[in-house]
Amino acid sequence: MNSPSRPVRFWTFTILGGAAVLTYLFASAPVPLDSGEKERMTMSAQEALSLLAHENDMTRTLFTKAIVGKGKQQGLAFSEDWAEQHVIAGPLPALFLRGVALHLAGTDVPLSLFLGSDFPIEGSNLFTGKQAEAFAAMRSDSLPKHFQDPGSGSQVSMFPDFASAGPCVSCHNAHEQSPKVDWELGDIMGATTWSYPHDSVTTDGFMAMLGAYRAGVSVVWSQYLEELEQLDPASKPAIGPAWPSTGLFIPDYATLRDSIDDLSGPHILSRLAQRTAVR
Ligand code: HEC
Repeated sequence: MNSPSRPVRFWTFTILGGAAVLTYLFASAPVPLDSGEKERMTMSAQEALSLLAHENDMTRTLFTKAIVGKGKQQGLAFSEDWAEQHVIAGPLPALFLRGVALHLAGTDVPLSLFLGSDFPIEGSNLFTGKQAEAFAAMRSDSLPKHFQDPGSGSQVSMFPDFASAGPCVSCHNAHEQSPKVDWELGDIMGATTWSYPHDSVTTDGFMAMLGAYRAGVSVVWSQYLEELEQLDPASKPAIGPAWPSTGLFIPDYATLRDSIDDLSGPHILSRLAQRTAVR
C-alpha cells in the first residue's frame, strides 16, 4: 500500500494534534486555582432539596410499583421486619427510605431525611411541632412547605408523599396498626421532611448531596440482594438485568440505577442547565 502523500499526513497530524490539545484543555487540564467557591454556581437549599425530593419520589415509586407490586406477584416477600435475622424479605417502601436516611446520617453530608404522617402506622412517624403545622397547611393546598427550623435554624423542606401506586393504599388500609383505613390512590399519605443546615449550596455541594442519597439507595439495595441470597434455590429470583414484571427476577443495582436515571436524570439536568443559562 502506498504511504499517504505529504499534504495528507500534514493535515492528519494537524487535526489529530488539535483534537488532543482540545481534549486536554476541556477534559483533563487542571482547574485554575483561583476558580474559588464564589465563582461556582450556587442554588438555594430549597431548590437543592426540591431536586432531591424529585429523585426520591422517582426512586420510591419505581421501587413500590416495579419491585414490591410486581415482586409480590412472583411470590417475593416484603416485610416491616425485613432487617431481622430470621426474616428473609425485602424492605417496605417506608423502610427503604429509612435505610437511605440512616445512611445519610452516617455520611459527612449534613442532610437529613424523615418520612412522617398525621395518620402513621408507626407512632414515632407522627409529625409534631412546626412540621405538624406545616403538614396541616399541606393537607389543604397540596404544596411543598419550606421554612427554617425554629430550634436549629436549618432549612427544612417538606414534600407531599402521594399514594402513587396501588400497593401504598392496599397495604396501609389492611395494616392492623393503621389509624386510617380508607386511603385512596392520589391521597397525601404523609410527607418527606428534608433538612440542611445552610440556606444555599454550591453545585459541588448539591452533587455531594445527590451522591450521598444515591449511595444510600445502593447500600439498601445490596442489603436486599444479600437477603435474597438466603432463599432456597426454587424461590430465589435471578439477579441481573430483568425485572419481576417478566418472571422471578430482581434487577441488579446497575439495572435499577439506569431506570432511576431515566426517570429522574432529565429533570435534574434541565434544572441545572436553566441555572447555567441565567448566570
Ligand atoms: C406492603 C406494605 C406497605 C406498602 C406497599 C407501603 N407502605 Fe407505607 N408503611 C408501611 C408500614 C408498615 C409503615 C410503618 C413503617 C415503620 O416506620 O416502621 C409505613 C410507613 C409509611 C409512612 C410513614 C407514616 C406511617 O404510616 O408510619 C408513610 C407516609 C407511608 N408509609 C406512605 C406510603 C406510600 C406513599 C406508599 C407507596 C409509595 C407506601 N407507604 C407503601 C407499609 C406499607
